[in-house]
Amino acid sequence: MSKQEKTARHVKPPAAFLPYGRQQLDADDVRAVTDVLASDWLTCGPKVEEFEQALAKACGARHAVAVSNGTAALHVALLAAGIGPGDRVLTTPNTFVASANGAAYVGATPDFADIDPLTLNLSPVALERRWRKDVRAVVAVDFAGYPCDLPAIAELARARGAVVIEDAAHALGTRFRVGGRWHKVGGHPWADLTTLSFHPVKTITTGEGGAILTHDDKLAARCRQFRSHGIVREAAAFELDPDTLAPRSSGVPTTMAPWYYEMQALGFNYRITDIQCALGVSQLAKLPAFMRRRQEIVNRYNRAFAPLPYVRCPVQAQQAAGSIERARPSWHLYVLRIDFAALGWTRADFMQALRARGLGSQVHYIPVHLQPFYRATYGYASGLCPVAEKYYQQCLSLPLYASMSDAAVARVVAAVQQLLKANQ
Ligand SMILES: Cc1ncc(COP(=O)(O)O)c(C=O)c1O
Repeated sequence: MSKQEKTARHVKPPAAFLPYGRQQLDADDVRAVTDVLASDWLTCGPKVEEFEQALAKACGARHAVAVSNGTAALHVALLAAGIGPGDRVLTTPNTFVASANGAAYVGATPDFADIDPLTLNLSPVALERRWRKDVRAVVAVDFAGYPCDLPAIAELARARGAVVIEDAAHALGTRFRVGGRWHKVGGHPWADLTTLSFHPVKTITTGEGGAILTHDDKLAARCRQFRSHGIVREAAAFELDPDTLAPRSSGVPTTMAPWYYEMQALGFNYRITDIQCALGVSQLAKLPAFMRRRQEIVNRYNRAFAPLPYVRCPVQAQQAAGSIERARPSWHLYVLRIDFAALGWTRADFMQALRARGLGSQVHYIPVHLQPFYRATYGYASGLCPVAEKYYQQCLSLPLYASMSDAAVARVVAAVQQLLKANQ
């Protein structure tokens, strides 16, 4: 062996880069997808229905309607709830822009109420303060997987004639206890519609994908209609006679018309494919294992970071928060709050130092009301949601995903500890 080869053997290979989030796929998932590719259906076939049924069962919802992504799920939910021009939709600023954009898509006014400093979710107190007469819907986001105070939000909204849409893009599998009883996201009574996302950084993935959960038969039917161009295919719902196209009275048409469908509203093509749903079925079976692993990593991070000065860990699952007596979150993000200024860091430099150690991190979220579009279109400015704005200065999401090894978790812990102590 040459001297060069000997030296090369002793050089540690660079550690793999750890992103802040990523999917976990295995051979079962790959097989599920390739089986569909070899079948007769690529889209809108049996796998869509199978995924919808599995989702509804896992969440305890009466209906699940799968769509092309989580943004489409929010758009469809608002359309199904009849939200449109002249209506106002209140949501949290601490979310991805999609949670607010849905209101803009339907011609309503997106508006923002501040967050609770403990849970980082929509604060019921701020919600009540920001309420206006034209509010017709609340979009409540379970940030990072921790549940919103939905009983309080629903009490407020329903007393004022508004619907509750729970954006659970982060929270598939989350449970919480209220009044001594455990409830599942998607299965509890305080949301009229619940939306999910299956983007690869989420707890389970279909590549791109989303779904709407509801207990309400009519809302579910409307979601299906808006998912596919506003078209209905149920004979009892037809407005015209299939042969003459003249208006008809209600009841099932007397002539059979297998070709016939009606577009009764302006919908979209937000359909999802069988290929994606086969992956969804396979991934959903692993949700409990994914959640367990994510919780283990969160516990490890909390133990390591809680004693550090100028650092605040996420809300603990066993802490009470409003009506939520206890939670079993399906953690999507691990967000540390760091007083960068007190520590002598800028966040950008801190992220760069992590990156130099092969560690990804991310900022969740830039307050949505301060995005240029929202400032320019609706006149929102800083000061509207001071808790979210202050939180934004300090937040940093660290790598969290089910396939992280113990060694990878230890790398993150060591790097963060080292960097936080470096400037003290
Ligand atoms: C809270 C929240 N809502 C909605 C969405 C939109 O989901 P999708 O990317 O599947 O359209 C996301 C995506 O990151 C999200 O984080």
